[in-house]
Amino acid sequence: MQAVGTAAAFSPAVTPSPARRRAVDSGRRFSRSCRSGRVSVSAAGYSQLEVRRVSYRPPGTEQNLLNEISLNLKEKSFGLLFGRSGSGKTTLLQLLAGLSEPTHGTICIQKYNDSGNPMGPPELLTAQRVGIVFQFPERYFLADTVLEEITFGWPRQNTDFLFREKLALKLQNAINSVGLNGISLEEDPQSLSGGFKRRLALAIQLVQTPDLLLLDEPLAGLDWKARADVVNLLKDLKKDHTILAVSHDLRELYPLVDRSWRMEMGGVLKEEALSVSKQMQAELQWRDN
Ligand SMILES: Nc1ncnc2c1ncn2[C@@H]1O[C@H](COP(=O)(O)OP(=O)(O)OP(=O)(O)O)[C@@H](O)[C@H]1O
Ligand SMILES: [Mg+2]
Repeated sequence: MQAVGTAAAFSPAVTPSPARRRAVDSGRRFSRSCRSGRVSVSAAGYSQLEVRRVSYRPPGTEQNLLNEISLNLKEKSFGLLFGRSGSGKTTLLQLLAGLSEPTHGTICIQKYNDSGNPMGPPELLTAQRVGIVFQFPERYFLADTVLEEITFGWPRQNTDFLFREKLALKLQNAINSVGLNGISLEEDPQSLSGGFKRRLALAIQLVQTPDLLLLDEPLAGLDWKARADVVNLLKDLKKDHTILAVSHDLRELYPLVDRSWRMEMGGVLKEEALSVSKQMQAELQWRDN
């Protein structure tokens, strides 16, 4: 099956083994059921993700991993977090995805009118509106076909036709937006190339129509061709989605970046615009460490 035009397209039942279920529970499932704000679709004006003085200390520990983090990211823009290994970048993504709760501070969506004045009170960001693609997402694949992988967890029975049709449309849109429409939906996800596995990982999140897409090291482990492919895909996705990525690959992502922040050791975030020379310096500094 290549295209998905009808609601019957996702009828096969998926019955993963208990072990595979546990693997998903510890990884991808969380990412799908992430906290009731939207970063997008405002009739007038715009909305913005706002992280306000967020600190995080894991339960039972004595040290903050993140300290008074603040950042704003406008809808349909691309934000980049970079910084040394162990500084707390992934920890911040996990808070944004609702996988852990801030010890202090708030994560919300604020709407503004065209003059830049707030429209109503901020809304807390809900996990349901966030999609997160972990580092090496292909490790969490568990289904035997691309179709099952994307529609994992969808209702298989007792749903009315209109509902099934709506799901089929979401599926088609996700597949189109990541350029997977050229491959068979019956394909084994493990047989895909590195770049297409990343496309599939993005489709798995996009089918949930998240308002905020979080990407942890989206280019890691890919060859140069797949990296260029994913960068081009992200350029397209940015037109309709709000994306916050963590990456060490500053040079390649540089053309996409609207705002960027450096995470310093100890979990302190500072906004730092990338310029070609700074970007190269940062890359070299990271490689030296
Ligand atoms: N639950 C936890 N309890 C205690 N320390 C933790 C916990 N989770 C992460 N850490 C520590 O927090 C620090 C930040 O980790 P994190 O994974 O967020 O770093 P990172 O910036 O994403 O690094 P990398 O670039 O290597 O992916 C690390 O020192 C890590 O060991
Ligand atoms: Mg990390």
